[in-house]
Amino acid sequence: MLSTRSPVLAKTAYRAIGGAKSAAFHLPAGRISLVLCQCSSSSSNIQTRSFSFTSRAPLQSSQSLQVSPTKPRRRETKQSWPHPVYTEKQMMDIEIAHREAKSFSDKVAINAVRLLRSTFDFATGYKHDPKVASGEKRAGDATQFAMTEKKWMIRFIFLESIAGVPGFVAGVLRHLKSIRTLKRDNGWIETLLEEGYNERMHLLTFLKMHQPGLFMRLMIIGAQGVFYNAFFLSYLLSPRTCHRFVGYLEEEAVITYTRAIADIDAGKLPGFENMAAPNIAIQYWKMNPDAKIRDLLLYIRADEAKHREVNHTLANLDADMDPNPFMTEYEDPTKPHPSKGIDHIKSTGWSRDEALSK
Ligand SMILES: [Fe+2]
Ligand SMILES: [Fe+2]
Repeated sequence: MLSTRSPVLAKTAYRAIGGAKSAAFHLPAGRISLVLCQCSSSSSNIQTRSFSFTSRAPLQSSQSLQVSPTKPRRRETKQSWPHPVYTEKQMMDIEIAHREAKSFSDKVAINAVRLLRSTFDFATGYKHDPKVASGEKRAGDATQFAMTEKKWMIRFIFLESIAGVPGFVAGVLRHLKSIRTLKRDNGWIETLLEEGYNERMHLLTFLKMHQPGLFMRLMIIGAQGVFYNAFFLSYLLSPRTCHRFVGYLEEEAVITYTRAIADIDAGKLPGFENMAAPNIAIQYWKMNPDAKIRDLLLYIRADEAKHREVNHTLANLDADMDPNPFMTEYEDPTKPHPSKGIDHIKSTGWSRDEALSK
């Protein structure tokens, strides 16, 4: 049944449907309805088309879809990927780490990250002490290039808006490959999508504390357009290089958050000292209700360290054959293995032999 208030629209729709041999117009309650009959073989072979041109028609069978005026329009929704619980000790043990670039693919990945990092630094007005990254100086001792609270927020927002891209691109490409080649995926898709979701939660949390201006919003749109397409094409060519690239990018993210935490501890960011963590973060990470920004940054830094481990590990595996070790159940649970949490986190990733062991 085609329904419309306009006779012109109804006739246009009729012409557009080439297979129909006859049509009848009805006028119930001020509406024009078009019933299409396919009469080539039998007059009883009637097909009705059940979409409508108008959205103002009342729902007949799904009244529950209508929002009751007495209920709020925004509702809490359950998380598809609940966050694992981290202990304070686990989060405090997170360290800056670097996996040596060994192969040609690794070198391509690290140089791409260096290029992206300098673009990020330029875009967000951030400069960091290279001695902090190399481990020669503690993050709190950096005197060069002081950052303000606002500069940190801009950097976090820009960084997280980009960080949410790779997991979803990789997950979608693996999903499409699975349904195209009619083969199983070996459990990678969910971890990749969860990573993208987790990065978006980082972004949404920072947006509760700072709203970027028009210039930054334009930068985010432009950066996403370029980065999404570049990562999409690169992942088609070499998933291994792309996971290594994300592993190196996460190394940089851990440096960034370590430096921000050190700045708070050194009293350089008084505006952050008593600022409460937003509700969205308290619920997602199951934090104490009185958690502050420093606590939030500890959780986010631990997440970045997890992404660093996951992506360096995936880059060590055969993307076509190997199962996702972070979704695998191991025979001997007393031995350290890759897991969803950070209890046995390995900063530079698990080797293929370790990841595939029992
Ligand atoms: Fe993040
Ligand atoms: Fe990350």
